[in-house]
Amino acid sequence: MASTFDVARVRASYPALADGHAYLDGAAGTQVPLPVIDAIATAYRTGIGNMGGAFAASDRSDLIVAECRRALADLTGGAPSGVVLGPSMTALTYRISAALARGWAPGDEIVVSRLDHDANIRPWIQAAARAGAVVRWAEADPATGELPASQYAELVGPRTRLVAVTAASNVLGTRPDVAAIARAARAAGALCYVDGVHATPHVPVEVAALGADFYATSAYKWAGPHVAAVVADPALLETLRPDKLVPSSDEVPGRFERGTLPFADLAGVTAAVEHLASLSPGSASGGSRRQRVLASMAAVEDYEMALFARLADGLAALGHVTMYGKAARRAPTAFFTVAGHAPRDVAAHLAARGVNVWNGDNYAYELCTVLGLEPDGAVRAGLVHYNDASDVDRLLTGLAELSA
Ligand SMILES: Cc1ncc(COP(=O)(O)O)c(C=O)c1O
Repeated sequence: MASTFDVARVRASYPALADGHAYLDGAAGTQVPLPVIDAIATAYRTGIGNMGGAFAASDRSDLIVAECRRALADLTGGAPSGVVLGPSMTALTYRISAALARGWAPGDEIVVSRLDHDANIRPWIQAAARAGAVVRWAEADPATGELPASQYAELVGPRTRLVAVTAASNVLGTRPDVAAIARAARAAGALCYVDGVHATPHVPVEVAALGADFYATSAYKWAGPHVAAVVADPALLETLRPDKLVPSSDEVPGRFERGTLPFADLAGVTAAVEHLASLSPGSASGGSRRQRVLASMAAVEDYEMALFARLADGLAALGHVTMYGKAARRAPTAFFTVAGHAPRDVAAHLAARGVNVWNGDNYAYELCTVLGLEPDGAVRAGLVHYNDASDVDRLLTGLAELSA
């Protein structure tokens, strides 16, 4: 499968890569390929208006929004009318949590996980505090980075209203058994809110197979602009009454969208989904965009994991580097410390050699606390579809210089 992936062709579509840097910071936001840049520029060049007007530029914005919802549905396997658009996963999670928590009573329970990014923890804890609901914690194993699904049998009960869990850790890469966790939630009558921000760029996504009642994703992590979406069953969204303005749409999903949408960026989101669908044309057997996305992302997963093996093996061979997490199923993201060097200093050393990596907790605050890594966190090198072996080798060479 990896042979169907032509990384040189992929890289050629990213103008930013021409600066010669090894962009291993994709987990914090990827670069943007030409078709996405062009789609955004074309929207502005062509003329767009606000939605629902009597003139052509307004019609174009209506169309952009409808196409964007269709594209996100094709990316995730959801329904276009269940795609809620917003500025970021964090903002959308605050919105949805506030709407859900209106139905919670004192003594109700929610379950959050220590593996998650804070954006899928804190909004729930704060909403629970307002409702008088009890917070229960699923624990990550610090030795392996796994989030055992078996613990949910104990954590979930008749009072559980919501289980929030990540589809992939943004630092350790761990991909928990979300389907099993969602089954436990559903058996207790609870909803499952899945943070798909880190998983979406790396694997084919099928919300139904995950059992996700809500699936959150941010386009800027997969070659798109800074726009996010939560995908849910429209019938579920119908049951929720978020705060909204009187004159704004009360339809689903518009009910959840505050103010004017970023139309040009939404055109870019659609182009980004097309881009993902075209990453490995050889692996797609034609068919619908949904089928092309699934085939292409399967090839992306194979390619990235083969490259990740090179990265993980290389890090393991460096005696002064400690890598965290060794989950059985993971995204291609490495989190490590270097003996005798603060994470920020490692990142600066690599930056001077044209290698972009992140340092810190990357908002995986609870996890980094469990790992004993707060407040400085560690170094994160994440692979995405445009990274190649030379990016990995440059990282390893730069790290080798820091030995003893
Ligand atoms: C796993 C994960 N969840 C949530 C977020 C927050 O996403 P946003 O920046 O869209 O609020 C991030 C961002 O880094 C992330 O990596």
